[in-house]
Order: sequence, then C-alpha cells, then structure tokens
Amino acid sequence: MESTKQAFQQILQERYSCREFKDSPIPKESLDYILEAGRLSPSSLGLEPWRFYVVEDKAKKLEISKIANNQNHVANCGVILILTARLDFGEYFIDKLKARNMPQEEINQRITLYKPFIDAMDEEQKLHYAREQVFLALGNLANAVSALGLGSCIIGGFDSNKLDTYLNLNIHKERTAILLVIGEKMQNQIPKKSRNPKEEIVKFL
Ligand SMILES: Cc1cc2nc3c(=O)[nH]c(=O)nc-3n(C[C@H](O)[C@H](O)[C@H](O)COP(=O)(O)O)c2cc1C
Repeated sequence: MESTKQAFQQILQERYSCREFKDSPIPKESLDYILEAGRLSPSSLGLEPWRFYVVEDKAKKLEISKIANNQNHVANCGVILILTARLDFGEYFIDKLKARNMPQEEINQRITLYKPFIDAMDEEQKLHYAREQVFLALGNLANAVSALGLGSCIIGGFDSNKLDTYLNLNIHKERTAILLVIGEKMQNQIPKKSRNPKEEIVKFL
C-alpha cells in the first residue's frame, strides 16, 4: 500500500510538459498500457464519449503540427494522441446501459431519468458535456505516460475545425477535443513545479 502511494506520488511529481523528445518510436506494449489507462477512465452515465486516434506516421505528425500552431514538439514526438469528443451518445446511451450488469428495473429507471436530459441537449451542450469526460481520460493518459518514465505534453493550441476536417469527422457526431504528444524525453531533469499554494486553492467548509 505504502509503495502504491509512493509510486502514485512519483507519477504526479515526474509528469511535466515535455517539449523535447528523442526521435524514437513508442513500443507497442507501452502504447497499449497508456491507451488502456484512457479506456478505463470514468465518465458521466458511463457514456465514454471519446475516441483516441493514434498518429505515429512522421508525415502526418508534421501535417498535424501545422494545424497546431507549428509547435515543434507536435512534429517531433514519438506519437500524437488525438482525443475526440463524441456527441452521438444519445444514439448509444440505451444500448450501453442495457449492456451493464444491472437489474432490468434499475436500467428502466435510469432511462426514464436520464433520456430527457440527454435529448434536451443541443450540439454545443453535448460537446461541452463530452469534453468534460474527455479531459478525465486525458489526465489518466498523461499519468500513464509518466508511470512509464516517458514524456508527454498536452496540446490545446490547435485549430479544432481544421483538425476535424483533417480527420474527416462528421462534426455532428464527433469533434476533436485535445491532443497529447508522447515521446522519450530528450533530457531526464524534471523542472521544478510551479503551483499555487495549498492555502489558496483548498477551502475546508
Ligand atoms: C488544456 C491544456 C492545453 C495545453 N496546451 C498546450 C499547448 O498547446 N502547447 C504546450 O506546449 N503546452 C500546452 N499545455 C501545457 C501547459 O502549459 C502546462 O501543463 C502548464 O504550464 C503546467 O506545466 P507542467 O505541465 O509542466 O506541470 C496545455 C495544458 C493543458 C492542460
């Protein structure tokens, strides 16, 4: 238990936004480990309204970096993960609920309770709602990268309309939300963290 606590603390302390990567690919088993951390993430109503697109191809990374304000570390990383937010959860919500290990009565109750909530959302609200879930997956992905001793950087600076088009997404069903670039760190020194003091952010009521 103590070692799990320490390991988790180390994962958090060692994750930082790495912007210089070696020119080496990410081994398949590492990538699988990272993606699994994203897949296991919690989501509201268990909707998992996300997809993770994996970009390893050098030419594609360069193209995507151009959509991401020409950020060097987007072109020069081991892999880019593009996290998309799904807006089509209204279509699969009931089937997904039915697939869960729950008594029929509870499933029916949930449908009655939540279907009107989902049906009432317009596309912008769906996007907002789905993005919230995507960012939970993002946190787990980034920490999984850190657990492997690899570097990552979250990339929000990109033109989402252009990236939607690049991926040929049906924007009524799915939109790009955030990127995570991953690679082997160029250097092993971990920069000192700059964070607000606990007293400023934690309020006991
Ligand atoms: C939503 C979001 C978007 C970000 N976008 C970028 C980005 O486009 N480019 C970049 O180099 N870093 C980006 N960052 C990284 C932040 O600058 C970084 O997390 C923050 O300065 C704290 O530093 P640390 O991650 O090293 O602890 C982003 C982080 C988040 C959470």
